Amino acid sequence: MSADGMRRPSLQAERLAALAPTWQVEILAETTSTNAVCAQRARDGAPEGLVVTTEHQYAGRGRLDRVWEMPPRAALATSVLLRPTLPPERWTWLPLMAGVAVARTIEGRLKWPNDVLLGPELKKVCGILVERIETPAGPAAVLGIGINTSLTPDELPIPHATSLQIERGEEVDRTGVLVTLLAEIADAYALLVHDPEELSADYLALSATVGMRVRAELPSGGALAGTASGIDPYGRLLITQADGLTQAVGAGDIVHLRPLD
Ligand code: BTN
Repeated sequence: MSADGMRRPSLQAERLAALAPTWQVEILAETTSTNAVCAQRARDGAPEGLVVTTEHQYAGRGRLDRVWEMPPRAALATSVLLRPTLPPERWTWLPLMAGVAVARTIEGRLKWPNDVLLGPELKKVCGILVERIETPAGPAAVLGIGINTSLTPDELPIPHATSLQIERGEEVDRTGVLVTLLAEIADAYALLVHDPEELSADYLALSATVGMRVRAELPSGGALAGTASGIDPYGRLLITQADGLTQAVGAGDIVHLRPLD
């Protein structure tokens, strides 16, 4: 652990152990990727409710095959194992559901599908990567959540990133953020299972994207510009183009554009 890492407080194991039996939290001193570890535990038979977190993730995975690295103890890198018994079309809502839980935890806004933005300039403070894993006990979902807690401006990976500490101007209780996050995940997951329309309404209320002019940069290399006009039942972003045609986008990077005068 570097000198910088040692200056930052470690996670409080006792507070996290108190969340059992709902959540079984495993804290790793360091790891490549909490998603990779959680997925392996799932294949080995771990039950729903396993939470893998770490003091230092040094080869984390991001969306669209990007890397997600963070200095020791400066961020919360956490993966939550769920074993949803949902119809296939509702699995596509898991990434959005995780976004709702994080946005509620840190009072952020959502850039579709699930980047969480904070501050007057709406900078990215959290990234989420949800992976579906095939296991002997059936399909499982790993919700991978990375929240920048105490990164300083010179540690930020991209210009449009921020951290809780930068925005709040005070030290962040990383353990407290994780405790609240897990409670919010439990609530949002219950909505996904029992009241998906309410979850969809909650998502829209937190969305910084819907209503904006956007450009979607598609995995195929193409792009689509228009007004983000809603979210469809599969969690895809609806983009209405200037000619009135509406298209649903299921994957890609969204750029928020300035409104037209
Ligand atoms: C993104 O590209 O915005 C998503 C980043 C997701 C990072 C988190 S950190 C915890 C979990 N483990 C990983 O390897 N990735 C996710």
